[in-house]
Amino acid sequence: MAKLVIANWKSNPKTSADAKKLARSTDHIGVVIAPPFPFLSEVGDVVRKSDLGAQDAFWSDGPYTGEVSVNQLKGLGVKYVILGHSERRRNLGETDAMINRKLKAVLGCGLFPVLCVGEGPEFRRAPKGAASFINNQLKLGLSGVRNVKKLIVAYEPIWAIGTGLSDSPKDAARVAVMIRGRLGNVPVLYGGSVNGGNVAEFMSLPEISGALVGGASLKAAEFKKIIKAAE
Ligand code: PGA
Repeated sequence: MAKLVIANWKSNPKTSADAKKLARSTDHIGVVIAPPFPFLSEVGDVVRKSDLGAQDAFWSDGPYTGEVSVNQLKGLGVKYVILGHSERRRNLGETDAMINRKLKAVLGCGLFPVLCVGEGPEFRRAPKGAASFINNQLKLGLSGVRNVKKLIVAYEPIWAIGTGLSDSPKDAARVAVMIRGRLGNVPVLYGGSVNGGNVAEFMSLPEISGALVGGASLKAAEFKKIIKAAE
């Protein structure tokens, strides 16, 4: 089965010209490009094969200064919405309750939520602690959600994000199995320092449905290696 690769550009690149160039050169079936909000429309115009993703979404239209609603994103052609990324949870005060509201709004609009979960460095060598931490994120993030047909989970151990220290593929696969044990047959992606060198090993495991890629998705040549490994 082909794997899904999501490019999480975070707050990059600086200009829309650079965004369009990068999107054009990594446009590929099975790839979701998640640029920052200001570039969504232009990236949507240049890609032919990739799907469009957003890095967050707010649960409502209306008087919420600075927020971007799920409806607005849908109108731009967004299909996937990353939710609960650890950078938002840790640095921007995003709570499980907020993520849960956003997730319900995304599902309500018929889009695919990509729910990010993952333990911090305190549980790095403590699989039981990590499992219970992740289970709690799933429980709270999915509270009241019955239909998980469109749900995608991204397992991203926090200590592996942007550090060059990826998880071992075997450990990531174990977590994916645990997540499916709880939720049923949902796709589980791995994220955290995925690059052209380590991606093949992750993609070779049937438990891992694809990758959520940060830093390496900004380098076209590197990202193309990742796309190739996922085919
Ligand atoms: P990274 O980021 O690939 O740069 O580690 C992954 C992510 O933050 O989703």
